[in-house]
Amino acid sequence: MTPTGSLQDALLELEELQARALHAFTSAASPDDVEAARIEYLGLKQGRLKAAQERLKSLPSDGKKEYGRQFNGVKQALEAAFDAARGRVERKKVADDAVDVTLPGIAPRLGRRHPLTQTAEELIDIFGRLGFAVARGPEVEDVHHNFDALNIPPVHPARDPLDNFYLSEGSMLRSQTSTIQIRVMESQPPPVRVVAIGRVYRPDTVDATHSFMFHQIEGLMVDDGVTMGDLKSILRLFAKSYLGEDVQIRFRPSFFPFTEPSVEVDMLWHGGRRWVEMGGAGMVDPNVFKAVGYDPERVTGFAFGLGIERLCMRRHGIDDIRLLYQNDVRFLDQF
Ligand code: PHE
Repeated sequence: MTPTGSLQDALLELEELQARALHAFTSAASPDDVEAARIEYLGLKQGRLKAAQERLKSLPSDGKKEYGRQFNGVKQALEAAFDAARGRVERKKVADDAVDVTLPGIAPRLGRRHPLTQTAEELIDIFGRLGFAVARGPEVEDVHHNFDALNIPPVHPARDPLDNFYLSEGSMLRSQTSTIQIRVMESQPPPVRVVAIGRVYRPDTVDATHSFMFHQIEGLMVDDGVTMGDLKSILRLFAKSYLGEDVQIRFRPSFFPFTEPSVEVDMLWHGGRRWVEMGGAGMVDPNVFKAVGYDPERVTGFAFGLGIERLCMRRHGIDDIRLLYQNDVRFLDQF
């Protein structure tokens, strides 16, 4: 007796075939799964059901009837399972692809300009109305523009490597935007009336009011007969426009190698209890005019350099400069 010749075996295998096939169809999760199961069990050439049908021929004639009956039952069950599986995955696909037009939409998050950028733009606007054009200069500077031409001698403590970011021989990250004064005067004759905004770098320890990188706005006005009175009125006008009519600023005598006389400019901090320095200013030193080929007997001028972060902080009541660099959306969303 061949193994395929036993009716008992054949019926058992038929049963097993049905169990496996039904499992394959009911567990199929995608149209591809259903198709794979169809090919395996119901495929017309190589399908297992087809093989089971072929087996009929090898059975003894008295078993053929019984086997045939069982076979037809299995065939019907498999075809029904296939139809059911196909319907099920199709419906699922439709559901997955469907768009529920009644759901609320996803609102796109709108970006906005960084508060420092907004401040810079507003400052340029205010000084523009006061007649100042915009100038620019590089952040990687040479010591000529950062020091020599600004009347800062080779032995001056401001050149200390501990206070500057030197790069290769003769170049550095600028420590002040006053470099741009020099670049502007080197490239044009007087009169001059410009502001320049940019980053400056100093190896300061970071705390609530200091950072190793911050922004300055530099102003320079050169003409016949420009006076310290002009400097003070321009800075007061500016402070009132940007910080409000009630803002208080004060000038303290100070020293910078590139201005004489020099002042430090303070503003009364929000809360009104302490003064905070907003920058330095003064009348352009004759040595600076000489370095750029201007005649100090013919022109005078003033210059100022203000910290943009502090202006922005005073305006918006921000108490920690670090908030301006952390890009925390919860902070930025407020501007
Ligand atoms: N460059 C000076 C600083 O960074 C500020 C300044 C600018 C002072 C222009 C006088 C004139 O501290």
